[in-house]
Amino acid sequence: MHLSHVGTNKICFLLSLAFCALLVLLIPSLQPPQRQTDLPQPRPRAKPARHDLYGNPGQGSHGAKDGSFIHPLPPGGRPQDPQRMLEGDAAHANPPGSRSKDSLDLRDIFIAVKTTRKYHRSRLQLLSQTWVSKAKEQTFIFTDGEDKELKQKAGLNIINTNCSAAHTRQALCCKMSVEYDKFIESQKKWFCHVDDDNYVILPNLLELLSSYSHTQDVYLGRPSLDHPIEAAERVKSDGSVSVKFWFATGGAGFCISRGLALKMSPWASLGNFITTAEKIRLPDDCTVGYIIEALLEVPLTHTGLFHSHLENLQRLPTDNILKQVTLSYGGFENRRNVVSVGGVFSLAEDPSRFKTVHCLLYPDTEWCPRKTRH
Ligand SMILES: *[C@@H]1O[C@H](CO)[C@@H](O)[C@H](O)[C@H]1NC(C)=O
Repeated sequence: MHLSHVGTNKICFLLSLAFCALLVLLIPSLQPPQRQTDLPQPRPRAKPARHDLYGNPGQGSHGAKDGSFIHPLPPGGRPQDPQRMLEGDAAHANPPGSRSKDSLDLRDIFIAVKTTRKYHRSRLQLLSQTWVSKAKEQTFIFTDGEDKELKQKAGLNIINTNCSAAHTRQALCCKMSVEYDKFIESQKKWFCHVDDDNYVILPNLLELLSSYSHTQDVYLGRPSLDHPIEAAERVKSDGSVSVKFWFATGGAGFCISRGLALKMSPWASLGNFITTAEKIRLPDDCTVGYIIEALLEVPLTHTGLFHSHLENLQRLPTDNILKQVTLSYGGFENRRNVVSVGGVFSLAEDPSRFKTVHCLLYPDTEWCPRKTRH
């Protein structure tokens, strides 16, 4: 009895051992099929950084995810000559037979004029009398102080940025940041920034921008140097490597297409512009160039049609002055630096030459001398 009990126990033990061995053998053969069903599924891939850039707070995320409202960058390369991109895009963006050019209206352009309270009287008055009077609705004056008189009398769009009036990097970047946000809000096709000492020849600006598409990546301006600037890379890396990039000098004015401006959003919108500028420790216009050329890898389209007071403006041939997009003036005190355009007004009457240029472009203006009128 005792022995048979042991015998039964042994058999039970052996049976359970065999069962366990069977299970152990079966488990690996059961598992692989489960694994195999996992494998062919697409791996959750990290999307390339560029795709994330389509995200834009103002647009919602529906169009942003697949980039449908912005033309994606060409596969495998830097975006190149915008003119070439325009032609390439036109081939499938427009139905056959339609015009390949944007039918651009002046109202599609957002013009930001950067100024400071100190210059409201001297500089803004001249602008509101001249070119701004022809583009009142789409020109926005970004300043640092209230001026009810200017707002009411001249009927200008004045935006008090609440930025400091100091001419420091921080204050200038603060204004650029507000300009960017207001442009995004505006829904206009082009962003153009100018200074309060620029004359914008509006028909030429319209013609220039009409040869590009606002849905493409376009950054247009005059490089301030004849070589790219070099800076420590502190946004994408720790600053141990340096990047080289071109930037358009802010004093001559520059333009950015809406398509490109939307991609700048992670580094430019809602105060991010100030953070980016602080990281690389460069002024406002350099920071714009850094975001576009170094981070987004979109090249600046160099143009000689924009002019700042840093150039020798006298050297601009008289016959070509009215063909430019922006003009400037400077140095009344010591060496006068103005465009050589004669007639209409004397240097004493029109030291900046802006009134003279304006009367040559719009002779029917009431304050222009009769002899220039048609
Ligand atoms: C500047 O401050 C005023 C008053 O607080 C405010 O109404 C205005 O929206 C501010 N401007 C900007 C651009 O934030």
